[in-house]
Amino acid sequence: MRAVDIIIKKRDQQELSREEIEFFVNGFTSGEFPDYQASAFAMAIMLNGMSPQETTDLTLAMAHSGQMLDLSDVVDLAVDKHSSGGVGDKTSLAVLPIVAACGLPVGKMSGRGLGFSGGTLDKLESIPGYRVDLTTEAFKKQLKDKGVVLAGQSLDLAPADGKLYSLRDVTGTVPSIPLIASSIMCKKLAAGAQAVVLDVKTGLGAFMETLDDARVLADLMTDIGKLAGREVVALLSDMNQPLGHAVGNSLEVVEAIDTLKDGGPEDFREHCLHVCAHMLVLGKLASDLEEGRTKAKNAIAEGSALEKFRVLVQAQGGDVSFVDDPTKFPRAKFVEVVKAPRHGSISQVNARGVGEAAVTLGAGRAKKSDLVDHAVGFIVHTKVGDQVDEGAPLFTIHANDEKKLAEARQAVLAAHSFSEGVVKPLPLFYS
Ligand code: URA
Repeated sequence: MRAVDIIIKKRDQQELSREEIEFFVNGFTSGEFPDYQASAFAMAIMLNGMSPQETTDLTLAMAHSGQMLDLSDVVDLAVDKHSSGGVGDKTSLAVLPIVAACGLPVGKMSGRGLGFSGGTLDKLESIPGYRVDLTTEAFKKQLKDKGVVLAGQSLDLAPADGKLYSLRDVTGTVPSIPLIASSIMCKKLAAGAQAVVLDVKTGLGAFMETLDDARVLADLMTDIGKLAGREVVALLSDMNQPLGHAVGNSLEVVEAIDTLKDGGPEDFREHCLHVCAHMLVLGKLASDLEEGRTKAKNAIAEGSALEKFRVLVQAQGGDVSFVDDPTKFPRAKFVEVVKAPRHGSISQVNARGVGEAAVTLGAGRAKKSDLVDHAVGFIVHTKVGDQVDEGAPLFTIHANDEKKLAEARQAVLAAHSFSEGVVKPLPLFYS
């Protein structure tokens, strides 16, 4: 077997066998097959798709490309969550400490930014000293001792996905249902999750723009999970507009900390409470969603969720004083409030436009080796359905480069649409 023949087969729209998929994933993981062949393989999948069987085989091959974590000696029931990616989606930063504070230990492997969509690891690394590269032993020990872990894939879990993920980010091969499904589910399987809440985003700022596509992705991931003997709940959530107000790494960390301090934007808080409620039900710490939600709310109100976040940051080497005093996060050189050019109801805040503008500012990567600027991004002040007066603050830009600031101003202004009439707010969840 040769790597090129497998690429050609997929290019020519033929179905790959389990052996071929395993051969390719193993060769790529070991470094025998170069990045350019993996990129071509990803593009062939992106353009021609994969059958459910191929996707399951790809998921299992990537999950087995490294160690398969068994957490049964550390936690009674390993519950995990994963988002399919979005703009302003800092959910894990709040949800993990909340559910951990409710008594559900949770260790999660997160990813970096992907295309216009932010990544939890990039966000966490805006906290000075925070280490995402834990060994498997350190991951398990922290989960046992502290009840919460939020780390990256450098530990030997699903290394094939870690490598492919960074190539997809810069080769236009992100929005593919089989690639997303296998990427998410291989990490969940390798990390030892017995039950998973999947937050599948749909809309302009999601990889799945239509509800139908999001449903296909959700069903596929649920099926893969079930096939592997895991319990899976998939939520379909809105990603037409950014979640919360903050978009950009340290700005999002600050918003998550505000939320853990019982503040934060209403939509983000509600979104987190819903995800927490599902995780607590799966973890058998709540008998229904209402009880899960109440427990999660109490953990925020009593301060135990914030304390868990401090524990997490400290355990991973981060400077906790930034959690206690978020004004310590470095501020970008230029901070500009952009005002509404007219009055009216906000009918659209195009999340993709905002996410792409954030990448332009340096919050994400244009190529694999790019460094992320943690300070830049936006605070988007309004939501779809809000009434604004001409001259009211529409969004605030945090930039470190004047030229990029000007580009971002144009792009984010263009992402906003106004209407004369009344506009209904967008739902948080579709299903
Ligand atoms: N999140 C992942 O982990 N992988 C993807 O491909 C998209 C979102």
